[in-house]
Amino acid sequence: PPLFLSFFFVAALTTPRGASALTRRDFPEGFVFGAGSSAYQVEGAASEDRRKPSIWDTWSHQGYSFDGSTADVSADQYHHYKEDVKLMHNMGLDAYRFSIAWPRLIPDGRGQINPKGLEYYNSLIDELILNGIQPHVTIYHFDLPQVLQDEYGGLLSPKFIEDYTSYAEVCFKSFGDRVKHWVTVNEPNIEPIGGYDTGFQPPRRCSYPFGVDCAGGNSSTEPYIAAHHLLLAHASAVSLYREKYKETQGGQIGITLLGWWHEPATNTPQDAAAARRMTEFHIGWFMHPLVYGDYPPVMRSRVGARLPVLTAPVSKKVRRSFDFIGFNHYIIMRIRSIDTNSSQQPRDYYVDAAVQNPADNISKVETAPWSLSKLLEHLKLNYGNPPVWIHENGYGSAAPGALSKTEYDYDDANRTEFLQDYLEVLQLSTRNGSNARGYFVWSFLDVFEFLFGYQLRFGLCGVDMSDPGRTRYVRNSARWYSGFLHGGELRP
Ligand code: NOJ
Repeated sequence: PPLFLSFFFVAALTTPRGASALTRRDFPEGFVFGAGSSAYQVEGAASEDRRKPSIWDTWSHQGYSFDGSTADVSADQYHHYKEDVKLMHNMGLDAYRFSIAWPRLIPDGRGQINPKGLEYYNSLIDELILNGIQPHVTIYHFDLPQVLQDEYGGLLSPKFIEDYTSYAEVCFKSFGDRVKHWVTVNEPNIEPIGGYDTGFQPPRRCSYPFGVDCAGGNSSTEPYIAAHHLLLAHASAVSLYREKYKETQGGQIGITLLGWWHEPATNTPQDAAAARRMTEFHIGWFMHPLVYGDYPPVMRSRVGARLPVLTAPVSKKVRRSFDFIGFNHYIIMRIRSIDTNSSQQPRDYYVDAAVQNPADNISKVETAPWSLSKLLEHLKLNYGNPPVWIHENGYGSAAPGALSKTEYDYDDANRTEFLQDYLEVLQLSTRNGSNARGYFVWSFLDVFEFLFGYQLRFGLCGVDMSDPGRTRYVRNSARWYSGFLHGGELRP
């Protein structure tokens, strides 16, 4: 054969087909690759330009983060967004997932729009689009305006639904001409647990303490009420979007759940059943109403009258109120069944699920890439294989104390390997019929990590939080991701 053909043959024979030679072209057509952040975690400028506190500002200022830090400045994206978008562009990101800070856009929670808030998000969105990067916007990512917490108890009041919907409408109206991917709420299946059951996160309410400093609350009822209001707020924003904006703006709207995967701790039938129950309490809590119009039967039977009722019209509104479902996937939990027969026992979410509280094992966090395929398979088999976005997946490296220069810059081979492992599994899942549409690394930059402060770093790019200029350091994982996004092999 002619010389150029023999070269082709040699190349074909020596390049092993299979996982190691995967490139982005092996993913479904149009598959989107990005990275993400959230407003409170990345923006800084906490009291600039009329932004008012969210419940996370209050919490961190009360000293509850594990390292005592706050996100007053954090990576300071508020002042560095242009530089960041340039970095994203060079990295080859198709999309950036970020959230809008409600207390920046509408500092009093309702009413007046802050022109400086509008200006910031308009500039960020314009800059992204100018650089060919799709904005994927989360409307609510945990940072409830403190004033709404004080005024009516935040998520515990149905007033939240109304205020949230008005806020969401401001987002659609102001940014919907350019934003085509909306996430109503981030992780509504964990915020009620942290905030109203275990008390780890604001507003720190609980009645069944897990050794944290929590105040007031009722762990047996409040998590379900808070989640219910988040679900209804989501459905209400989706109805509004579909009625008034979807046709002209042509975007997609969905919700993003935390997707812990629950495995039985042992091979006993009891633990297997407990893991299935926990999956219903964790994923089914939202997926079941979103797909079938009511909470999962196992929750109905175990939580009883403490679980809010979805009336027929509400159920109708909730059912199919999504164009896609986002999942944030990190870890698996090993679940043990517990005996919850005693009527004396204080009830909470984990007792209702009759499992040992996985938070007991949080120090033994386990990751395993195959759990992502289990999650996707679960969605395929139980919920009609909805369009799914992996909105978060990433590697947190423990960073006690100050980091050295090389830690910002180089030392993250583990992160690269982690991402490669998960992308390999994701690609295989799409080949096996999963409906995944995109993948976002958490996080684009080092940011303030909820609970951990700056002791846990997820960034593709490192940020020195003691440097007033907040220099960005491009880690090796970012270089690898960039190579992959520009057409290189998954494992070069
Ligand atoms: C979940 C949250 O959405 C995000 O805010 C957090 O930083 C990451 N996962 C990592 O824990």
